[in-house]
Amino acid sequence: MAYETIIVEIDDEVALVKLNRPEALNALNATLLGELSAALAEADRNDKVRCIVLTGSEKAFAAGADIKEMAEKSFVDVYSEDLFGANIETIQRIRKPIIAAVSGYALGGGCELAMVCDFIIAAENAKFGQPEINLGVVAGIGGTQRLTRFVGKSKAMDMNLTGRFMDAAEAERSGLVSRVVPTPKLIPEAMGAARKIAEKSAVATKVVKESVNRAYETTLREGLLFERRAFHSLFATDDQKEGMAAFLEKREAQFRDR
Ligand code: HXC
Repeated sequence: MAYETIIVEIDDEVALVKLNRPEALNALNATLLGELSAALAEADRNDKVRCIVLTGSEKAFAAGADIKEMAEKSFVDVYSEDLFGANIETIQRIRKPIIAAVSGYALGGGCELAMVCDFIIAAENAKFGQPEINLGVVAGIGGTQRLTRFVGKSKAMDMNLTGRFMDAAEAERSGLVSRVVPTPKLIPEAMGAARKIAEKSAVATKVVKESVNRAYETTLREGLLFERRAFHSLFATDDQKEGMAAFLEKREAQFRDR
């Protein structure tokens, strides 16, 4: 499918989705968000895809929601259309693992979009921020909520109140990103991680995603019970038999997603 603001490549069971509005540092306008949520939903349905990598350009993952598009809107406009609501909920519902590969600016909605993904790999030049305060507004798709869970209250308050940017080293130290790599190695590293995930049982990777996300939604006791039952349920799969047999027979497992 041809898109105007994103590029999708399917490479060896991995969908590489690239935000592509270089003239606006990948600012998230309605077209881009619509295309992105449609492309991710399509990748989720495509049996050839086992993992997704979302990235931008070297200069910008995304510099936030498109300020030109938002500037003249009224409260009634944004409330009635529930600005960003439907698209972000579609992205949240994707069941295959999504890695955000972030180079350059990930600001405002860009930082929030990276946080909706399952984990973030950052290039050394990455800069994260929630600068909405400078525009007289606040974060709208997770910058006060997900960021707080990632980095804790103090840093989340600092970022949201001052609008300052966090570099890659601080982002890794704070738990916002899982790894930092030299900028030219970002895509190879993210694709390598995605291919590793693609080798696993797709049933188990979906269960991992659901279980880790459950940690954000519930109490520890309920989360632990959910995890244990999920673990038990995987004994109903052929992949559990294959994975354990392969270990005992000292060979590579051949998962069949059943
Ligand atoms: C629209 C944007 C944009 C944005 C950059 N551009 N960010 N257009 N919306 N968010 C455009 C610029 O207008 C400019 O276009 C071109 O991209 C290059 O940007 P420059 O500013 O010239 O680049 P530079 O000097 O390198 O500065 C980079 C920057 C700066 C630090 C990232 O662009 C910046 O501060 N951008 C805004 C960041 C921000 O406030 N984000 C939060 C948005 S609100 P022209 O045509 O002039 O060349 C938000 C709300 C989320 O995200 C809530 C729910 C999603």
